[in-house]
Amino acid sequence: MSSILTERSGKVGIIRLNRPKALNALSLALVEELVEALRGFDKDSDVGAIILTGSDTVFCAGADIKEQKELSFVQAYSADYLKNLNDGLSSIHKPVIGVINGYALGGGCELAMMCDILYAGDKAKFGQPEIKLGTIPGAGGTQRLIRAIGKSKAMHMILTGEMIDASEAEVAGLVAKVLPADQVLGFSIERAQKIAGFSFPVVAMAKEAVNEAEELNLQTGLHFERRLYHASFALKDHEEGFGAFLGKRDPQWINQ
Ligand code: HXC
Repeated sequence: MSSILTERSGKVGIIRLNRPKALNALSLALVEELVEALRGFDKDSDVGAIILTGSDTVFCAGADIKEQKELSFVQAYSADYLKNLNDGLSSIHKPVIGVINGYALGGGCELAMMCDILYAGDKAKFGQPEIKLGTIPGAGGTQRLIRAIGKSKAMHMILTGEMIDASEAEVAGLVAKVLPADQVLGFSIERAQKIAGFSFPVVAMAKEAVNEAEELNLQTGLHFERRLYHASFALKDHEEGFGAFLGKRDPQWINQ
């Protein structure tokens, strides 16, 4: 059985983690399938945005503890599936929207943080419980959480292993919006359709520029942003967008 399910809704590619008996834990096979599905949607010229979600009750309970328990240092080091997961997500040009219902724990919280936008159901819970297993976060928890919610709250989660709920995650800035659990996927698909309705290359440029802000100092980041802003002048969609505004009509994007 496949560890993920994929479907298309208009211009949106939807990926669901699908290991219900293991609470969607990140097995080596799941990570491979996930990265392949993301790349497939990224290459598909009819898809403008991607949704990554779990089930109605769990996003992902983290690394597959049963599988990880059997790995020696050399096996874990050589498989390097954490790097494959991180590189897989960060190489996607199209926006990836994480839709979180239920638990997002350990690698599940880290996977959520690799997404570009997070929308959460009101029963969502986020945590980095690795400390309780005798290890530490291994897929960005110690790095991305501090950028998302600040040092004290990140330390609180990582050192105590305690979870935060959806409203705390929203106040802290980890998620963009919290909605009733049964509405969050529909809301997210609508937002994804909206994003996919804009010019694909412009959306990709905006995503790239925002993500660079986490890597660069301010002057270099501003320079990078200006270069991409000016590059957008070369697009036919730039001419179309400005022309449509001045002509008081809706733009017709051609993704060029
Ligand atoms: C493998 C898992 C799992 C996991 C749950 N299961 N989490 N299997 N890997 N991460 C399995 C359980 O063994 C059980 O299988 C079934 O899913 C249901 O789980 P229960 O514990 O019975 O459910 P519940 O009481 O509702 O508790 C839910 C839970 C708890 C709070 C999410 O399962 C839990 O604490 N899970 C572990 C979360 C965790 O520590 N994550 C960090 C992993 S390390 P059986 O066969 O008994 O029915 C990590 C490192 C990051 O992520 C590195 C980067 C990827």
